[in-house]
Formats: sequence, C-alpha cells, structure tokens
Amino acid sequence: MKKSLVIGANGQIGSDLVQGLAQRIGAENVIASDIREGNHGEVQFVSLDILDAPKLKTIIEEHNVGTVYLLAALLSATAEQNPMFAWKLNMEGLFNVLELAKEGAIDQIFWPSSIAVFGPTTPRENTPQTTVMEPTTVYGISKQAGERWCEYYHNKYGVDVRSIRYPGLISYKAEPGGGTTDYAVAIYYKALQEGKYECYLKSDTYLPMMYMEDAIKATIDLMQAEESDIKIRSSYNLAGISFSPVEIAEEIKKHLPDFSISYQQDFRQNIADSWPKSIDDSKAQEDWGWKNSYELDTMTAEMLKGLKRKLG
Ligand code: NAD
Ligand code: SER
Repeated sequence: MKKSLVIGANGQIGSDLVQGLAQRIGAENVIASDIREGNHGEVQFVSLDILDAPKLKTIIEEHNVGTVYLLAALLSATAEQNPMFAWKLNMEGLFNVLELAKEGAIDQIFWPSSIAVFGPTTPRENTPQTTVMEPTTVYGISKQAGERWCEYYHNKYGVDVRSIRYPGLISYKAEPGGGTTDYAVAIYYKALQEGKYECYLKSDTYLPMMYMEDAIKATIDLMQAEESDIKIRSSYNLAGISFSPVEIAEEIKKHLPDFSISYQQDFRQNIADSWPKSIDDSKAQEDWGWKNSYELDTMTAEMLKGLKRKLG
C-alpha cells in the first residue's frame, strides 16, 4: 500500500488528521512532516520545508508516498502581517506538490481552501458553491488562486487533486495557527483558565465554523470517494455550524455559569466582515455524501471535556 504524507502535520488540522488517518488506514501507512520538529506517536515523522522541492521529491520516493495532504500555509491573520511571504508559501508549496503529481510521482493530493475565498461582494447568507468571489485578504487571494490552479492541473494534466473550503475549525489537540476564526478556540481555553475572555470580534459577528472531528471525517471521506463522484476540482463548500461570539459565550455559560465575555475589536473584524455568515454545501452532500454531526452544544461539551483533560 502506498503511504499518505501529511505536510504541516504539527498544526491545528494536521495534529488531528494524522491520528484520523492512522485510525482509518493504519499508522504504518502515514508519514507526518513539518518544518518544526514533531511527535505523532506511532506515526513516523520526517522534517520537511515544503519550499524545498528536491527534498519533497526524495521523501516521496523513499517512503513510497501515493497521497499528499498539503496543510502548510499562513492563515488569514498571520498572512496580513507578512503578505509577500504568505503568497510565496501558500502558492509555491502548492505548485511543488502539483508538479510532482503532474510528473506521476504522486497519485492524489488533498489541498485545503477556505471560506476566505469569498469577499464582501459575495452573498453572505447560505453562500452558494458558485458565486461572486472577490477576496480582500492576501490569504483569500492565495486560496482563490490555488483553487483555479488545482482545477487547471486536473483538467489539463489529469491530476487527482481534491479540496474543501474549510470553515473556521475548532479543536483542542493543537492550538490554531493565526486565523480570524481562532477566537472560537481561545474562548474555551480562557473560560477554563481565567473564567473570562476578551473577544477581538463584535458580539454579533456570525461566521461559518466546524468541529474538527467533522472536518477530519469530511477530509478522509472526500479522499476515499470514487474518483467519478468528485465533480468539483476547485474546492467544495462545506458547512458545519454558524454562530456569533455572544452565542458561543452563552453556550459556555451553561457549563461555567460565572464565565464572562467582553469585546475589543481589532483588524480581524474587517476580515470577518468580508466573509460569509453561513454556507450552502449541497454539492458536497450530493456528490460524496457529506453530512456534519456536531452542533454548538455538542461541540462545546466535547471542547470543555477535552481541554479539561489536556490542561489538567
Ligand atoms: P496551522 O498554522 O495550525 O498549521 C500549519 C503547519 O504548517 C504548522 O505546523 C507549521 O509549522 C507548518 N509549516 C509552516 N511552514 C511550513 C513549511 N515551509 N514547510 C512545512 N511545514 C510548514 O494551520 P492549520 O489550521 O492546520 O491549517 C492547515 C491548512 O488548512 C492551511 O492551508 C489553512 O489555510 C487551511 N485552513 C484552515 C482552517 C482552520 O480553521 N484551521 C480553515 C480553513 C482552511
Ligand atoms: N480559520 C481560517 C482563518 O481564520 C479560515 O480559513 O484564517
């Protein structure tokens, strides 16, 4: 069996994806890699800078890799602090993997897009799969360009590349890496550690979000779907739960009645205001049977339970 290589494995998604893949296909069939040193238990770890194309090729050959999950990128808030480097990392990393697939060195690629591909001119409620896309962040521009290139490599060279426009992801295993939706993770940490949280978004800012377990299931389901079922080669809309800071705070108060939230907006408010409030994911449902499991209440219970364990 050819192996699956996760690039950017130490990050928020990678930490859970590596374990999810190990459960589905066996730890011996998964390789974790990152620019930072990492430990993924039974799964082998190799150091890799995705910008180092020759080393990527060597790892793929030496470890008999068939599928690459490319997660290394700068996210929305961090990318705004360093636009040129964000463009370089997000685009060159993708090209390095697409080119290897074009040469036949890899069979399959997973590359995540984001709700950030949409912009202020996009319809914000129940945002359709195909609609106006005028992103205003460097991160969104890189994801939109990435989507076009994925579709191009599929149409022109037959590359089996698959993608999801993840909403904001919420998890407790690894902390998020610099996105606009990170408040929805930080709020749980602060609720348990300090009993209060100052949010950088306004109380009524609705954003599409998803519990990590749903995102991992969607990712592996998409990659294991029949090739003929994958009709969209740019990226699939995916919906989980939409909520605002005040709503997540109210849900936390059901478990921690003394919890309080205050609001102090920063530059991330502008980013959030340019993104959808909710997503229409009917294409993912039709094509490969996607359905989310977690709602705000079940996710909150899981987050608090998992974080209590983690924080001791
Ligand atoms: P993250 O920042 O938590 O993790 C990224 C990982 O990539 C880090 O461990 C980092 O060390 C590694 N990395 C950075 N530069 C690298 C390089 N040059 N070579 C190899 N590894 C490198 O990000 P994440 O939240 O896990 O996101 C993964 C992907 O999913 C990104 O493409 C992101 O845009 C996308 N995404 C994430 C979310 C979310 O809410 N987390 C939502 C939409 C899309
Ligand atoms: N969670 C991501 C971010 O906020 C969305 O892609 O950047």
